[in-house]
Amino acid sequence: MTSYIKKEVLLQAKGVSLCYGEKCILRDVHFSIRDIVRPGIRQGQVVSLVGRSGMGKTQLFRLLSGLQKPTAGSITLRERKPAEVGNGVIEVWRERPVQAGDMGVIFQNYYQFGWRTVKQSLLLAARRNPALAGKQEEAIREYANRFDIADVLQQYPGQLSGGQQQRVSIIQQLLKGSNFLLLDEPFSGLDICVLEKVTELLLQVSLSDELKTLIIVSHDIATAVAISDTVFILGRDAGGEGSTLVREIDLIERGLAWRSDLREDKVFLDTLAEIKDCL
Ligand SMILES: Nc1ncnc2c1ncn2[C@@H]1O[C@H](COP(=O)(O)OP(=O)(O)OP(=O)(O)O)[C@@H](O)[C@H]1O
Ligand SMILES: [Mg+2]
Repeated sequence: MTSYIKKEVLLQAKGVSLCYGEKCILRDVHFSIRDIVRPGIRQGQVVSLVGRSGMGKTQLFRLLSGLQKPTAGSITLRERKPAEVGNGVIEVWRERPVQAGDMGVIFQNYYQFGWRTVKQSLLLAARRNPALAGKQEEAIREYANRFDIADVLQQYPGQLSGGQQQRVSIIQQLLKGSNFLLLDEPFSGLDICVLEKVTELLLQVSLSDELKTLIIVSHDIATAVAISDTVFILGRDAGGEGSTLVREIDLIERGLAWRSDLREDKVFLDTLAEIKDCL
């Protein structure tokens, strides 16, 4: 088994409920995402959120993005911040509620402003990231080459394929520099070749920064499990109205994380069957 350590909590949902009047959609959702550290490898986190249609995945997505507040409970981020101690500055962990803008949100329809070229949209995103001051063009060139969109930088969104638009959306969020990327159904409507490219790209993103965390909401359980280290299953239990987190599966413990040869593996296939049973 690959050696790894789970360290600090990066994101925590505590007792999260969401109700519209009398109708409760989500009830008492608890989970945390921890920083995974692998010796010698820059490793981010990839978490999938699965559940049957209508279980509240998109609602939870909205809460995680900070666009909507839960009726009860909290979703907090923990981040390293510089703090002055005596004569020096050290980094300490601070916890705070998630706010709109904290997460790079990639919606299913990859909405882009039609009147800006790809390059102009990417520049706008890069200018919001203080860490890229003075080197925005360079960062765009680098991402564009790595994700194979260099030849469409001068085009408008309407002139791109679905797969190219998705890559532009992901790069846009990466340029903004947030550690969390939230993706709604990133695998839907893609043909098998593009699906492989997107999977590869998301894995590359997760390896680009130790603290980078991808949270993927998906119907495609096989692809979600193949690229994740943890799966959360949203479903119903006997505890009351609304959905809650009924199961957390640690794919690292099962030897299913960070591998590209899973599709025929018995543990992988058994895990898929187990997840389908919970849905
Ligand atoms: N504004 C609202 N008021 C009341 N109920 C709502 C509201 N928005 C969503 N719901 C309900 O919340 C439930 C969960 O919806 P949600 O869109 O999160 O499901 P989902 O798991 O994303 O489903 P799918 O896989 O089909 O996208 C649904 O029963 C829906 O009717
Ligand atoms: Mg949904």
